[in-house]
Amino acid sequence: MKLFDVYPINPINIVKGEGSLVYDDKGTEYLDLYGGHAVISIGHTHPHYVKRLEAQLHQIGFYSNSVEIPLQKQLAEKLGHLSGKEDYQLFLCNSGAEANENALKLASFYNGKKKVIAFSGSFHGRTSLAVAVTDNPKIVAPVNETSNVLFLPWLDEQALVKAFAHNEISSVIIEGIQGVGGIKVATDSFLQKIRTLCDAYNAVFIADSVQCGYGRTGKFFAHDFAGINADIYTMAKGMGNGFPVGGIIISPKIKPSFGMLGTTFGGNHLACAAGLAVLEVMEEDNLMENAAEIGGYLITELKKFTQVLEVRGRGLMIGIELPAELAHIRKDLLFKHHIFTGEAKPNVIRLLPALTLSRANADRFLEVFGTLVN
Ligand SMILES: Cc1ncc(COP(=O)(O)O)c(C=O)c1O
Repeated sequence: MKLFDVYPINPINIVKGEGSLVYDDKGTEYLDLYGGHAVISIGHTHPHYVKRLEAQLHQIGFYSNSVEIPLQKQLAEKLGHLSGKEDYQLFLCNSGAEANENALKLASFYNGKKKVIAFSGSFHGRTSLAVAVTDNPKIVAPVNETSNVLFLPWLDEQALVKAFAHNEISSVIIEGIQGVGGIKVATDSFLQKIRTLCDAYNAVFIADSVQCGYGRTGKFFAHDFAGINADIYTMAKGMGNGFPVGGIIISPKIKPSFGMLGTTFGGNHLACAAGLAVLEVMEEDNLMENAAEIGGYLITELKKFTQVLEVRGRGLMIGIELPAELAHIRKDLLFKHHIFTGEAKPNVIRLLPALTLSRANADRFLEVFGTLVN
């Protein structure tokens, strides 16, 4: 059997990882500033993570949501504590798309309305409704097309006001920092406007924090910078440091009922152990502070390169916009200097490293980057 060929892959076989370093099958070392697409939050094979997952596997790896799973409550408590959203409720699933799918559905259950506002440049996943609110017609299959989604221009407050005035809006979904869209930071005033309008029209504010959340920006959620609370935060990626864990946290005003949401795998014992290990390391090692500090340092230093068109982002979610003539740099970083980075079309390098990134590794990147742009 062959693989279904959907990924334009790099010819590199990664067989080992430690912290922010990974190694291929020939023993070549790579600096990982991509984190497997913002997934590796506490570093590859963190000893506490390995120990906790191994111990859990020796106990029990999986049982379904038909029985009590105290680890879920421990995870909810720790998450409430670290995020500051202590009074929210946690529903666990397995991926970012699933988290958004559940959030959009829950919003509609809550207020009985159908229309969703999304924004140009958005990416929310590939399941039915998640892809329908994603601004990329190429990945929307005919069966996923719906008239329930309104795409508005990014950061256009007037368009937002008009859309609310003329439609029965169920929810607004927005990334605090657009990831796939090229590391575009939502302004505080735009997020505050969404909050005000959602309150005025009984709509649900969904903060897609799949990529920009979980401490990456230096605050737990990127939306926190605006000083507002969303009604639902969606999470995945860094939540399990590579183990597939997703979830939504839900404002106390939205009440649950049996059968409203559900999943087979979500919240299983092993997933919860992974989620707890991540939060324990984040707290113990002050990783949000580290993300703010090292990220701030990288942004400041990168802004000094006059060849760069723009540096955007917060903490360790950084976009480096390059002119077309420097578009080759990302490939050079990988194949000549063994540094993994992400990309956004057309010419943005995305840095999404582990929140444990050291100053020495940040300097290693800056030095190489300097030689490539000059
Ligand atoms: C902001 C955002 N939302 C949702 C998703 C979808 O997550 P997943 O690939 O886990 O379904 C992604 C993935 O890149 C994302 O960046």
